[in-house]
Amino acid sequence: MVAATSEGAPARNPWSIFADRKPEGAEAHETMIIQRIKRKLFGTLPRIKRYHPRQLTAPQRKLEVVSAWKGLELIIEDLIDRYGVGRERCIEFGVEFGFSAVAFSSFFKEVVGVDTFTVDIHTRNKQDHYEATKTRLAPYSNIRLVRSDYRDFIKQDHGRFDFAHVDIVHNYKETFECGLWCAKNADMVVFHDTESFLEVRRAVRDIARATGYRALNYPLHHGLGILINPRLAER
Ligand SMILES: C[S@@+](CC[C@H](N)C(=O)[O-])C[C@H]1O[C@@H](n2cnc3c(N)ncnc32)[C@H](O)[C@@H]1O
Repeated sequence: MVAATSEGAPARNPWSIFADRKPEGAEAHETMIIQRIKRKLFGTLPRIKRYHPRQLTAPQRKLEVVSAWKGLELIIEDLIDRYGVGRERCIEFGVEFGFSAVAFSSFFKEVVGVDTFTVDIHTRNKQDHYEATKTRLAPYSNIRLVRSDYRDFIKQDHGRFDFAHVDIVHNYKETFECGLWCAKNADMVVFHDTESFLEVRRAVRDIARATGYRALNYPLHHGLGILINPRLAER
């Protein structure tokens, strides 16, 4: 593992102005106006306490594919160690080309990746890429791909997981439903795009309320919502 030293530059995204940062002067004025317009149009982003990683760790495995998730792989080991999350089983909903799945495969014995591998209104890719992704991920023997809609997958019992990742279509209903299942079946659940999609941020807050899981938010790289089983003690 290679330890990095800084959090890196924040990704440019429309919600980054809501991060824990106090702009000054002309920037503050502009921020205030943008916030007012956004509140009028979309409502307010729910406040979730910020997660501050103690250290950034690059995973041993990194896939060179297009992904908006890049940068988040650096905080996964910090999350695992800080809350004593098990390293056996990880489940991911939303694999796409495999960037996050390969990052997780560095930290967990088994990674189950569930995806339709077809069309999603929020992804640029509009083609069936299951075979190409399967071939690309074949060298990582601890990743098992399941071609399925999350709705069908969660109808069955798959046992408990240590860690879950939700990065499917970024609507409230789907994120809430899939994330709630994850919170009931895993000790830590992370959600991508809490800064760029208000619906994802709301779903994270509401799942925390429904389950009693603690909620944190990491605002870089489009945002990672983090839900933690209250039985896990911070170290
Ligand atoms: C943003 S991409 C995931 C990106 C990926 N985590 C990465 O590392 O770059 C979202 C993925 O969710 C999948 N998806 C969307 N809705 C889904 C659903 N209902 N069930 C399963 N997968 C879904 C899409 O096929 C798409 O591949």
